[in-house]
Amino acid sequence: MTAGQPEQALAQAVDVLLRGGLVAFPTETVYGLGADASNPEAVHAIYLAKGRPSNHPVIVHVAQAADLWSWVSVDDQTKAVAQRLVDRFWPGPLTLILKRNEAVPEAVSGGQDTIGVRCPSHPVAQALLTAFAQARGSELAGIAAPSANRFGHVSPTRAQHVRDEFADLVRAGLPVIEGGDSEVGIESTIVDLSRFSLGHGVALLRPGGISASALVLVLGEPLKGTDDQAPRVSGSLKAHYSPHTPIRLYSLKQLVQDALAWLDQNTGTVAVVLRQCELGAVQELATNQRISISVLPDDAAGYARALYARLRALDQGGFVELRWAKVPPEPEWAGVADRLSRAAAAFADSRPDH
Ligand code: TXA
Ligand code: MG
Repeated sequence: MTAGQPEQALAQAVDVLLRGGLVAFPTETVYGLGADASNPEAVHAIYLAKGRPSNHPVIVHVAQAADLWSWVSVDDQTKAVAQRLVDRFWPGPLTLILKRNEAVPEAVSGGQDTIGVRCPSHPVAQALLTAFAQARGSELAGIAAPSANRFGHVSPTRAQHVRDEFADLVRAGLPVIEGGDSEVGIESTIVDLSRFSLGHGVALLRPGGISASALVLVLGEPLKGTDDQAPRVSGSLKAHYSPHTPIRLYSLKQLVQDALAWLDQNTGTVAVVLRQCELGAVQELATNQRISISVLPDDAAGYARALYARLRALDQGGFVELRWAKVPPEPEWAGVADRLSRAAAAFADSRPDH
């Protein structure tokens, strides 16, 4: 959205979506690359743009919670649990996986019989979804959108990241709606309810903006993990969310020891990334010209908000490596820990991961 012309930018975006085109838009988690979810060709264009395998499903974004029921096919028991989660967490950073309504094109689900649905809280996403639903005038008015990044790369948390990621598409006319920095900063929490009626409970497929403990409070029972039969989640690939510069995770102690040894044996500069409260532990490194220390917030929410922008900035910094201090093991860090370990997994083969 260009400053001062939000309505015009939204109207243009709705027009592009109705014609089967793609639109990048802000959400409270990360920016999405959206298409009309009921148009298989439009959804296919997302896969092409991202370079994403076509058997990976995308999330459908809806304007309001009540729209969920048009996309899914659920028994009463599953519906009651989904409704509890929706009442508490929507609009917001929670994606529900449920059995897909047969009227919904298979393309959105990557051929699976389930569908992921989310109602985002970002006011610009809300405005876009509402305007799109009005213009489309059908029950199945939703925007299918994965994160607006090339497959496997770091997700975008501001409009400029999307423009950097898809410079070619932007030159060719891809609208990128402005919405400021994403408030949550990492992707939505994904829970699977698609096998609830089979006694599989509610399974956590991806930790994210909503913590597991917040979900458990509402559900009144523990979450299940995933198993071989669970729906596939591309964010659960071992390597994902990766920068181009190798990133390695260390305990704070190892980080200091290894960095000093590394300096003796190598040339170039490394970035050391840790939390503000850990600065004291790396004083030995702080004065070294070949080490650049980068500090992130002490709290999990602030850290998540800053994470992807920092990864992108450091990736442009010309460093030989990014040496990252592991985050605390407490549950509120689960989303951040998950993204960091997947970012680092892409480089695990070339050197042992500490
Ligand atoms: O916060 C978010 O969820 C962001 C914003 C844009 O909403 N979207 C996002 O989309 O992270 P994406 O495509 O990058 O990740 C969505 C994840 C993928 O791992 C995908 O496999 C999973 O959701 N997913 C979507 N539909 C699914 C389904 N039917 N069954 C299993 N997993 C599904
Ligand atoms: Mg993604």
